[in-house]
Amino acid sequence: MENYAAPRGTFDIIPYPGEEDSWRNSFLWQYVESVLRKAAADFGFRELRTPLFERTELFTRSVGEGSDIVSKEMYTFMDRGERSMTLRPEGTAPAIRAFIENKMERTPAPHKLFYIAPMFRYERPQKGRYRQHHQFGAEVMGVGSPEQDVELIAFAYAIYQRLGISALNVQINSVGDAASRAAYHQALSSFLEPKLKDLSKDSQERFSKNMLRILDSKSPEDVQILTKAPKLVDFLTDSAKKHFERVLSLLESLKIPHTLDPKLVRGLDYYNHTVFEVTATGLGSQNAIGGGGRYDGLIAELGGTNLPSVGFGMGLERIIQTLLQSGIALPTIPPPVIFFIPMDEASAAFCLQLTLEMRRTGIYAEVDLSFKKIKHSLALASDLKSTYSMVIGSEELLTKKGKLKNMQTREMREVAFSDLTAIIQVAN
Ligand code: HAM
Repeated sequence: MENYAAPRGTFDIIPYPGEEDSWRNSFLWQYVESVLRKAAADFGFRELRTPLFERTELFTRSVGEGSDIVSKEMYTFMDRGERSMTLRPEGTAPAIRAFIENKMERTPAPHKLFYIAPMFRYERPQKGRYRQHHQFGAEVMGVGSPEQDVELIAFAYAIYQRLGISALNVQINSVGDAASRAAYHQALSSFLEPKLKDLSKDSQERFSKNMLRILDSKSPEDVQILTKAPKLVDFLTDSAKKHFERVLSLLESLKIPHTLDPKLVRGLDYYNHTVFEVTATGLGSQNAIGGGGRYDGLIAELGGTNLPSVGFGMGLERIIQTLLQSGIALPTIPPPVIFFIPMDEASAAFCLQLTLEMRRTGIYAEVDLSFKKIKHSLALASDLKSTYSMVIGSEELLTKKGKLKNMQTREMREVAFSDLTAIIQVAN
């Protein structure tokens, strides 16, 4: 099997995972996706589906050459026409590409889009970090107000609440506008330059490529040096500061708990003004269950009208792992209401007819067509936690009656087939 095993960092989502892997249960995924879709509808977001791969330039241009995603993590390949293509590592750039290409700005703003889609990043796999992960993402194009940032954060927060995830932190920061960042860049550069040789190797590299990302570093030597580093919030221009203060005061008045994190810069280059990240307590090192921010210049950068935008993405693997870890009661696969066991070919045909009739009325009915011994079929009915079972043979076919067995109480009751669907409908 080794030769054919799923690629490292990828996984199957299946109906019967083991205890250890219960987060890969497809029923749980369906449940979470249904909560996300309902929340999206209630908040006025419409679904967008884009191709799994895009031209590579789309990501280098938007996510940024200096980001880890573009410089180390993309699945890039040449197609047969010698064009460089990339499996999408994130959803914002494709959403903007689709927005521009489909001229969505013709409809009145705000344009509120959401997607549920797999993303591909060549990262070092560990719990909570995969080479194919899935995101629920939301993007609002066309409104630049701080109020819009807050509506979006409130949307993300409502999703976690609807799912029952309460052990979380919302970290927030502003990376300002271009002028704020230029001033800060200067100050950070002057502060770090004399200490360059004491920084970690990664951070030394980032100094010239993507200096702000040094703030994200978890290496102890960097963390120590950064304690005295200038803070981005102190370099915000007046208008950037006003935007951020309004965001904070609205979050306060809406009672959305949040913590200021002056070092939060996020790993993608397109952000400006508000950035935020949501972490779950008790998930280990890969604890970011969502993140996003404002990216005002990006639509214009990719060739569209200059519209301000804000969005977020959340990782479904991490959300499901958080749900399981926190012991929240989760829905389980509904059992069959009735399980038919035919004893011979003639009764099998009749059972099949009964089963299909029940299913037509929206009842989950099951039939065992394996012709095994009755005790095996009953064991299966009991494994499936079926509410009722009914064994049907030549005698039942003759009398047009069968014994309806309550699988829990083991009580039997004789029922005419003509009444069965109605009885089961009531029991359902
Ligand atoms: P991101 O922070 O790179 O942002 O990813 C969003 C979320 O996806 C993370 O918070 C995490 O839950 C999950 N995630 C990311 N990488 C992995 C991985 N390797 N394995 C498992 N889960 C992962 C973005 O992608 C932005 N496009 C979000 C955004 C939308 N910003 C504005 N609009």
